[in-house]
Amino acid sequence: MPGIKDSLELKEIVLLGRTFDEYFRAFNLQAVNLKEEKILDAASGVSSFCAEAAMKGIDVTGSDRIYSLPASTIELKCAEDLALVMAQMPEVAHLYKWEYFRGVDELRDARKRAYKLFTGDFRRHGSRRYVICELPETDFSDNEFTITLISHFLFLYDDRLDYEFHRETIRECLRITSKEIRIFPIVNLKGELSPYIEKILTDEAFANCTKTVQTVDYEFIRNGNRMLVISA
Ligand SMILES: C[S@@+](CC[C@H](N)C(=O)[O-])C[C@H]1O[C@@H](n2cnc3c(N)ncnc32)[C@H](O)[C@@H]1O
Repeated sequence: MPGIKDSLELKEIVLLGRTFDEYFRAFNLQAVNLKEEKILDAASGVSSFCAEAAMKGIDVTGSDRIYSLPASTIELKCAEDLALVMAQMPEVAHLYKWEYFRGVDELRDARKRAYKLFTGDFRRHGSRRYVICELPETDFSDNEFTITLISHFLFLYDDRLDYEFHRETIRECLRITSKEIRIFPIVNLKGELSPYIEKILTDEAFANCTKTVQTVDYEFIRNGNRMLVISA
């Protein structure tokens, strides 16, 4: 019998990516006319959102610190991280809701499909679509994008990214984004609402920003079906 754990045990932030459909639901994008937007996917990693969006004629730029690495190195690390997470699944399966994915095989297939689509696109388009960036800093201009999406990065990893990092990353994304930034999920790896949510909502630095927490049509981490929307 596998033991039960209250969180995935990860030495570092993993290289696992989500698909376009997962982003579409997680960020409530059905309500957005995507072809009119210029979107930044911040900490986009090996998600296939950018690649799939481009195929649909949507303007998305990916940005992540891993884009300084060759595609072959990234692909190897994805395969290792996927194996690492899958090996822990029996012990943490209770933290997830098995509806969008009906089981671990579907989850593994989706994560594999995402990174294969990503690496193919990364090899073809490189730095024209995927920009190297080490948050909380970026080299983008003021209001270069209309919407910035941050998926499975802030709040989720609140055990290793401190509050200062969260605040500075959000400030920087507000600087480079004209309409709004959307952050999903707002729970951490234990499936608990990150304490940093309350801190962001009450932080003087964002006193003049509009901040809303919205429920979305995507829940894989149990209780992780809400996103934070912030605009300056
Ligand atoms: C769990 S992945 C999420 C990938 C993608 N957003 C998704 O939801 O599928 C987190 C990503 O954050 C990236 N990352 C970690 N620290 C970063 C930093 N300081 N600046 C930019 N990217 C970072 C990692 O390289 C990784 O690709």
